[in-house]
Amino acid sequence: MPNNIYLPKPGRIAHIKTEVEGNRAIKTFQVTFADGDGFEHACGQCAMLSVFGKGEMMISIASSPLIEDYKQFSVMRVGRVTSALHDLEVGDVIGVRGPYGNDFPVEAWQGKNLVLIGGGCGLAPIWPVVQTVVARRADFGAITVFYGGRTSRDIMYRSELEKLRSDAEVHLSVDSEEEGWEEFCGFVPANIVAQEPSPDNAIAITCGPPIMIKFVITNLKNLGFADEQIYTTLENKMKCGVGKCGRCNVGKDYVCVKGPVYSWADLKDLPQEF
Ligand SMILES: Cc1cc2nc3c(=O)[nH]c(=O)nc-3n(C[C@H](O)[C@H](O)[C@H](O)COP(=O)(O)OP(=O)(O)OC[C@H]3O[C@@H](n4cnc5c(N)ncnc54)[C@H](O)[C@@H]3O)c2cc1C
Ligand code: FES
Repeated sequence: MPNNIYLPKPGRIAHIKTEVEGNRAIKTFQVTFADGDGFEHACGQCAMLSVFGKGEMMISIASSPLIEDYKQFSVMRVGRVTSALHDLEVGDVIGVRGPYGNDFPVEAWQGKNLVLIGGGCGLAPIWPVVQTVVARRADFGAITVFYGGRTSRDIMYRSELEKLRSDAEVHLSVDSEEEGWEEFCGFVPANIVAQEPSPDNAIAITCGPPIMIKFVITNLKNLGFADEQIYTTLENKMKCGVGKCGRCNVGKDYVCVKGPVYSWADLKDLPQEF
C-alpha cells in the first residue's frame, strides 16, 4: 500500500542511546516498523512523532535514506512531549507520520566539496547527509565537518564523529576552555574563521541555534561563499506538518511544506521571522 503521510504508523523503539545527559539531554532513538509500514525519506526531511496521550512533535529524520532497517531520531529534552519520549524504553511504541518537507539536493552536489556545520542538536538534520556522502564517498569531493557543543559533555554522536575522521576532516569545538580538551575552544562561527574552508566548488550546510546560523553564514560569506552555496534548515514551531494550520509560516511560505531546507539565496529575501 502507498505511504499515507497523514496516518501515524506504529513505530517500535528498537534502540536508545543517551548522547548527552543533564537538563538539555539528547537521546537517539532507532525506530522500526512492521512489514509494509516503513517509508522512504530523503536527506533533510522530518517526521511527526507522537507519544500517546502526550502529543506530537516534528523531528528531523537523522538517518540516511540508504538505511532501510530503521529510522533514527535524535531528540533534545525541552518540554512536555520530548520529555515523555525520553521516558520511554526499548520496546515501547510511538506514532510516526511523514515524511514531511523538502530535502537537501544531495544528487546535485556530486563532485562538490562539502562543508557541514552543526551546533548542539543541529547535527541531527545534517547527519543523513554525512552518512549518505560517506557511504558514496567516491561521488563527492572533500568532506569537512564542523561541530560544536557548549562543553565536551554536550557533544552528540561522539564515537561516530571519531570514526568519521577516516573519511572527512572533522573540527570539533566547545564554547570555552576545558581541561583535557585539545581541539578548538570558542563558538562554531569562530572555528570557521580559524579553519577558513574554501568556497571553491563547495557547498556549505549549517544547522543549529539561530544565532549560530546567523554568524556562520556571515563568516562563510566573508570567505567568499555565494548565497547559492549555503544551505540551512529552519525549525519553526509546527503543529500539523502538512500546510493546513499556518503555525509555521515565514512570510508567505509554510516551512513544513516549502522547507525546512533552504538555500541562503532563497531564505535571505524572506522576512527574518525565524
Ligand atoms: C522541522 C523541524 C525539525 C526538528 N528537528 C528536531 C530534532 O531533530 N531534534 C530535536 O530535539 N528537536 C527538533 N525539532 C524541535 C522539536 O520539534 C521541539 O523541540 C519539540 O516540538 C518540543 O516539544 P515539547 O512538547 O517537548 O516542548 P514544549 O513543551 O512544546 O515546549 C518547551 C519549550 O521549547 C520551546 N519550543 C517548542 N518547539 C520549539 C521549536 N520548534 N523551536 C524552538 N523552540 C521550541 C517552547 O517555546 C518551550 O519554551 C525540530 C523542529 C522542527 C520544526
Ligand atoms: S505546521 Fe501547519 S502549516 Fe506548517
